[in-house]
Amino acid sequence: MADGAKLLLWLLLLSSSPWCFCSELDVQCLETLYRSVIDSNGILQSSWTFVDNGTDGYICKFTGVECWHPDENRVLSLRLGNLGLQGPFPQGLQSCTSMIGLDLSSNIFSGPIPADIATQVPYLTSLDLSYNSFSGPIPASISNMTYLNTLNLQHNQFSSEIPWQFDSLGRLSSFNVADNLLSGFIPPSLHKFPASSFAGNQGLCGAPLDNCPTRRWRLRLHRINDESSIGAAVGFVVGFVVALYFPHWFVFSKRLHPYLFQIWSIPSGNLSANLRRT
Ligand SMILES: *[C@@H]1O[C@H](CO)[C@@H](O)[C@H](O)[C@H]1NC(C)=O
Ligand SMILES: *[C@@H]1O[C@H](CO)[C@@H](O)[C@H](O)[C@H]1NC(C)=O
Repeated sequence: MADGAKLLLWLLLLSSSPWCFCSELDVQCLETLYRSVIDSNGILQSSWTFVDNGTDGYICKFTGVECWHPDENRVLSLRLGNLGLQGPFPQGLQSCTSMIGLDLSSNIFSGPIPADIATQVPYLTSLDLSYNSFSGPIPASISNMTYLNTLNLQHNQFSSEIPWQFDSLGRLSSFNVADNLLSGFIPPSLHKFPASSFAGNQGLCGAPLDNCPTRRWRLRLHRINDESSIGAAVGFVVGFVVALYFPHWFVFSKRLHPYLFQIWSIPSGNLSANLRRT
């Protein structure tokens, strides 16, 4: 309810263009972005021509730029997928003040996403950074981009955990972090997405993927890793085998009778459990 009212207010503000000086800011946004990326295929160079006498709406004809209105320099979304762009996360986006869509997919961008991305582009409903080489943690501040419907971070090199704050992204209807280097628990609010949204991350666990290893299991691994307990286990097994094949060595030693009887009486399935308990 409150969110809906906020969105309505925002749309009203947007449509009150006489007081809005966002057009110049939007041109500045594209100019800064243009200077901050490496355009090795020259696709932006051939289309993004900034002219001083530029009439209102001239940036709307640039490759990948969608405007709210064709006669107004106000960016609705940037669709810069698959243009061979390189470099760090583009700069200047905070000047595209009414942008709701950003698609940088299938380029060669690398390095971290700025931690303050939510203050740069707070109104995004769609963010697609898939198929690049972005790395570092996924910024927790993305959870403040409350209008997000689509978040696609597939096929990058993001590491660390999915921020638990993502629980507050109530509008998400499409989410993908497959093929990264993520680890840890999947936040409960993301369990509704298919396993394919999380696949290809060796350390991720919990629904919809496999359960996370329990603490007890980890403790047991520690114990087995401990050299002395391996030594003890090996010694026990050797002793057991010797007793099995050469019972007469023991049978005639009266002192060992009770122990031998114990070993024989353990059903084979319980043997390993008993081994671990010792
Ligand atoms: C704007 O400048 C360019 C050259 O930079 C010129 O070709 C074009 O005719 C000019 N447009 C207007 C509307 O004055
Ligand atoms: C979200 O925004 C608020 C207010 O600006 C800030 O205090 C908070 O730290 C932000 N959350 C994250 C996870 O960055």
